[in-house]
Amino acid sequence: MKLLQYNTSVGLPELRQKLVKKMAWHDKIKTDNDHVMLTQGAQQGIDLTARLMLNKDDGLVVEGPTYIGALAAFQAYEPTFYEIPIKEDGMDVNFLEDTLKTHAVKMIYTVPDFQNPTGAVMSLEKRRQIIELANKYNVVILEDGTYRDLRYSGQNLPTIKSLDSEGRVIYVSSFSKILAPGLRLGWLTAEDKLFKALIGLKSGADIESSNLTMSIVNTYLDDNSLENHIALICNCYRQKKDAMLSAMRKNMPSIAQFTNPQGGFFIWLTMPKNFNMDKFVNQQQLSKSGVLIT
Ligand SMILES: Cc1ncc(COP(=O)(O)O)c(C=O)c1O
Repeated sequence: MKLLQYNTSVGLPELRQKLVKKMAWHDKIKTDNDHVMLTQGAQQGIDLTARLMLNKDDGLVVEGPTYIGALAAFQAYEPTFYEIPIKEDGMDVNFLEDTLKTHAVKMIYTVPDFQNPTGAVMSLEKRRQIIELANKYNVVILEDGTYRDLRYSGQNLPTIKSLDSEGRVIYVSSFSKILAPGLRLGWLTAEDKLFKALIGLKSGADIESSNLTMSIVNTYLDDNSLENHIALICNCYRQKKDAMLSAMRKNMPSIAQFTNPQGGFFIWLTMPKNFNMDKFVNQQQLSKSGVLIT
C-alpha cells in the first residue's frame, strides 16, 4: 500500500495542492506546490525556521507576551531575545523600529491573528509597517497563522506573507485548531532559497510527516469542504466565546477588564496594577479543590 511507504520530505502532493488553494482564497498568499511543506504541526515549522535562522546570540524579536511553545523552540538555539510590547492592534512598531535600529536582529516572530495569549489582531497599517521595516533592516519574518481561520466576526486582514514582495516571510499554519491537534499536521510556505534550506532540515529532522496521516486528512478533504467545515466550527466557537463572556460579565468583579475577541481562543483579562494576581489564582485553585475560602 502506497500510503504505508515513504513519500517525499515536503509531504503528500495532493494535500499540498489543497493548501495552495486554501491559502489563495483565505490568506491571499500566492504560492505553489513546490513551495509548500507539510510539517508535524505549526510547532515543527517554528522549530525548523529557528534551526535555519538562529545561532547562539543572534537577535530575535518576539511579541511580549507570546506563545510559550515558540519560546521553548527558540530557546534551544540560544538567541538574544528582544521583546516588543503588544497592544490590542498588534506589536508596538515604534518600539520595534528602535530595536531594529539599535540591535542586530535576524528574525521577527509574530502571531498577527488572534495572538496567543492576548487574542490581539495586528492592524493592516502595522502589517504594512512591519514588512517595510523588515525590508529596510533585512530581517526575516516568521508569521504564525495558527488561529487565523477562527474568525467569528469582522473582516479578515491580509496575511503579512501576502504583503511580502522580497520573499522574506516564512508562513506557518496548522490543522490543529481546525481539524485536530492529535493529527500533528501543519504546513509552511516560503520563497525558493529559504524553502530549499527548510526541506533539508525537515528531512534531517524526521524524513517526512506521516504519509498515513496526510492521506487521511487528504481523503477527508476530498469528501468535505474545508471552507464549510471552518464555517461550522467558527459557529460553535463563537457560541462558546459568548457563553464564556456572559459568565465573566456576571461573575467577575467590576475592576476586571477583558476583551471581546473577534476570533481565536483567547480572552485577555486585565486587573488594576495593585491587584495581587498570585493570591487570586491561589484562591481559585483552593476553591476548585473544595477548600472553603474566607
Ligand atoms: C500560536 C501558536 N502557534 C503554534 C502552535 C502549535 O500548533 P501545532 O499543534 O500545529 O503544532 C500553537 C499551539 O497552541 C500556538 O498557539
